[in-house]
Amino acid sequence: MRILSAMQSTGELHIGNYLGALQQWIELQKQGECIFIIVDLHAITIDYDPKKMQKRIFDIALDYLAAGVDPRKSIIFIQSHIKEHAELAWLLSTITPIGELQRMTQFKEKSKQHEKNINAGLLSYPVLMAADILLYKTNIVPVGEDQSQHIELARTIAKKFNNKFGETFPLPKTYLSKSGARIKALCNPKKEMAKSLGSQNNIYLTDSPNKIREKIKKAVTDTEKEIKHDEKNKPAISNLLNIYHLFSNKEIKDIEKQYKGKGYGEFKKDLAEVIIKALKPFQEKRKKYEKNPKLVEQILIQGAKKAEKIAKQTMKQIKTKMGLI
Ligand code: AMP
Ligand code: TRP
Repeated sequence: MRILSAMQSTGELHIGNYLGALQQWIELQKQGECIFIIVDLHAITIDYDPKKMQKRIFDIALDYLAAGVDPRKSIIFIQSHIKEHAELAWLLSTITPIGELQRMTQFKEKSKQHEKNINAGLLSYPVLMAADILLYKTNIVPVGEDQSQHIELARTIAKKFNNKFGETFPLPKTYLSKSGARIKALCNPKKEMAKSLGSQNNIYLTDSPNKIREKIKKAVTDTEKEIKHDEKNKPAISNLLNIYHLFSNKEIKDIEKQYKGKGYGEFKKDLAEVIIKALKPFQEKRKKYEKNPKLVEQILIQGAKKAEKIAKQTMKQIKTKMGLI
């Protein structure tokens, strides 16, 4: 069974990325052959500073390794290092209806967010993502819920290819975490925690203990005082309870009991400590890798070598079926 996922080098990772995606990756390493990509070609579909890109890519590699991606078991590499990704994206774009791309929620949202830069890459973003997935004949794609629509489209493209050119790709399945699939922003629980929402809304994986305490203290709560999970009526406290639950492994019901009759203040103070404790091993491991950039570089080079071998094989097969070889 092949498992594949990726993150864009668009900025620092937050606890939403961790609980919604990264944590599952680590578990899945026990179940199959894993490939984890740093998707820099996706990252350039929004405005960015080229001078910062190398550091951003390196930071994502550190995050993967610190979270527990094991380079002896899994393949880690940078998307733009393997040209077959862009090549396959082009081939797949010729069988992808524009209408499918235009109805993608993320495309619509990003078009609003980046009004002055609605480029063709933003529209064909999911085709490149389908290429990432299909190039390795992936079976399982662990992601946060917001990405399900893109994986659904990758399935549609795979089916279309198989019908038109002969059975080639297995149909990739989305793999969602149980409850961490959507972590909300700290100051706006109607929105998902996202890199684009800025520091006050996110807890970054590298935030210091004091920063975490400060952010949790400032996180919005709901009017009614009770600490109770009720996503519809109490979205803010439900989100905080969810974070507490996921980092402590305590059941939400038990946490509610623990804080019965107590105020938000005490709950928030403890929540900050729960997060700090849970992130400590990650932060320590990250520092070790950070001090050893040569090692990280080696891991990425080795990863690209292994991935390229698979990519070239699939590409040859695809081009033959399409009548290009
Ligand atoms: P992004 O930060 O949008 O590049 O997303 C990287 C991965 O993290 C994807 O699998 C997303 O689905 C997941 N993810 C991003 N934000 C959240 C969130 N707030 N809650 C859960 N998962 C998330
Ligand atoms: N679009 C994904 C995101 O924003 C990143 C991504 C690119 C991806 N290619 C992928 C995820 C392939 C899973 C598989 O998070």
